[in-house]
Amino acid sequence: MSASAMYHKKAHSFSNPRYGQRGESVRDVVRDSLVVVNFKTYQTAQGISAEDLASKMAQIETSARLVAAVSAFDISAVIEAAPGLEVWCQHLDPVGFGSNTGWLHPATAIERGATGTLINHAEHKVSLEHVAMLLEQVPSEFSVCACAADVEEGRALSALNPTFVAVEPPELIGGNVSVTNADPEIVSGTAEAVKDVSRSVRVLCGAGVKTGSDVTKAIELGASGVLLASGVTMADDPLESLEGLVSGLRN
Ligand code: G3P
Repeated sequence: MSASAMYHKKAHSFSNPRYGQRGESVRDVVRDSLVVVNFKTYQTAQGISAEDLASKMAQIETSARLVAAVSAFDISAVIEAAPGLEVWCQHLDPVGFGSNTGWLHPATAIERGATGTLINHAEHKVSLEHVAMLLEQVPSEFSVCACAADVEEGRALSALNPTFVAVEPPELIGGNVSVTNADPEIVSGTAEAVKDVSRSVRVLCGAGVKTGSDVTKAIELGASGVLLASGVTMADDPLESLEGLVSGLRN
């Protein structure tokens, strides 16, 4: 997708849905929900394997937003391999054209078809200023998901008005216990704290999320969806895992 096409992409609704609120149907909740799969540098999600995994994601029938956050190397190839799938970067730097060796340039990511990015992931921390400058640089339709380790960081990031704040306790990342079970208060607490600061910023949660019931619980706790990695990238059957995850939005 070209940069100009991306600019004209329909803006998504920024409500913060929970089952039963504002008379919303389950269908509305599903449509407003996200499952973001972070490919990180898992071997199963790089290069040709990234294309394969993205194609599997594109096969899932759901009205929820399924997003692949891929290596910068793989953006173009993944977009070609999985037309229709939303593709984000895992990180961007707030730099312009010019002398910035090795930095990840937002305008080039957009030109290559990325429609959003993670920023400040627990595995790639940056300053609040970095996040603020990035937000100033990208068009408002470009999704920016700022990651937070706890409620306070989530609150601080939400004041910058990213599209999403994703709360992920670092100690649970890559584990087998979902944040929604291990620390439900961090999810509900972040949802509340972010709502106090901005009505437009939506909350995701992640770390250890692996099943449909983890996704259901995330929504019940006030999140709009989940950010996960190993539950899909390390699954014996990623397609089955993805189907299980999105089924959690229909319960
Ligand atoms: O970005 C998602 C991530 O940090 C959570 O990883 O493997 O616990 O789903 P995982």
